[in-house]
Amino acid sequence: MKAIVYREYGSPDVLKLEEVPTPTPLDDEVLVKVRAASINSWDWDQLRGIRGFTRLSGFRKPRNNILGVDIAGVVEAVGKDVSQLQSGDEVFGEVSKRFISLGWGGFAEYACPRGSSMTLKPVNMTFDQAAAIPQVGALALGGLRYNGDIRSGQKVLMNGAGGGVGTFVVQIAKSFGAEVTGVDSAEKLEMLSALGADHVIDYALEDFTLNGQRYDLIIDVAASRSTFDYKRALSPGGAYGVIGGSQIRFFQTLFLGFGISKFGNKKMGTVSPKPNEGLDFIVELFEAGKVAPIIDKRYPLSEVAEAFRYFGEGHVKGKIVITM
Ligand SMILES: NC(=O)c1ccc[n+]([C@@H]2O[C@H](COP(=O)([O-])OP(=O)(O)OC[C@H]3O[C@@H](n4cnc5c(N)ncnc54)[C@H](OP(=O)(O)O)[C@@H]3O)[C@@H](O)[C@H]2O)c1
Repeated sequence: MKAIVYREYGSPDVLKLEEVPTPTPLDDEVLVKVRAASINSWDWDQLRGIRGFTRLSGFRKPRNNILGVDIAGVVEAVGKDVSQLQSGDEVFGEVSKRFISLGWGGFAEYACPRGSSMTLKPVNMTFDQAAAIPQVGALALGGLRYNGDIRSGQKVLMNGAGGGVGTFVVQIAKSFGAEVTGVDSAEKLEMLSALGADHVIDYALEDFTLNGQRYDLIIDVAASRSTFDYKRALSPGGAYGVIGGSQIRFFQTLFLGFGISKFGNKKMGTVSPKPNEGLDFIVELFEAGKVAPIIDKRYPLSEVAEAFRYFGEGHVKGKIVITM
């Protein structure tokens, strides 16, 4: 089969289209003919290998040589322990197999995820849409559920609202009747308003932690400020869940958040849902017309390197999909 392979960390130039053996499913796995995959910031970090976490897959060289955690496709064979799926099923999901998202392989004609990690794709959802959902959908839902269910009228702020996670958060929070503020760069604000955001903030022009507003829930994929800055922007009883951003800020909230949450009336901490957590609920929201993935661009498998270059420029609105 054809796959995009990388054997060293680096720029998108290290990604090569190669012919590799088609994988064989283990007893608990399924063989999926991939129809679409999508790029996540996780893949971008794994490609470059420059952040602490990302070298867990191999300190000098990557051990998982095919990137791509999100796929949508058609089941072609099932392992003997998989009873819930059969050949011909149209499925999607995050293919990560173990702790810290190891074992990918989505940027290829075939992948072998565990059967339990695949969800049946609704007929009215395209393969492209399905591939754009799994990782960011789970993270978005994890953020929105960080302090219990969203209630109508709650003030929710999404920091980094224009990317994969944020575009889901804005739509889902609005569907629950929240008052939503989206923070991102100027070029993404029009899209956020179109998605239903009540207020938008250009992070280059305004620091939302200093504008005097207070929020019931802040979800952050672009943490860059001190934990105490974010705490100041929370209303009494409010919560701040950090999903990503600066590693220093992420770990600062991990450690300080415990004490702040235990001894005060605000909750602060990190959000790390399991792969595919809540995907069934996102399917329900999709079928009810309350959420749909935002796809900025599509690239064929042979142009994955080009797709990563575009991702790296930081202009992506929502997601980039790879089509097979
Ligand atoms: N916790 C976990 O278990 C886990 C697992 C996997 C991934 N992650 C994290 O999840 C996140 C994925 O988010 P995503 O898919 O939405 O990423 P994304 O698509 O890259 O979107 C991030 C958005 O943040 C914006 N941004 C950048 N700097 C900002 C700032 N200072 N203030 C406000 N917005 C800013 C970017 O806009 P511009 O580029 O235009 O500035 C972009 O629109 C990443 O942070 C990743 O590290 C966490």
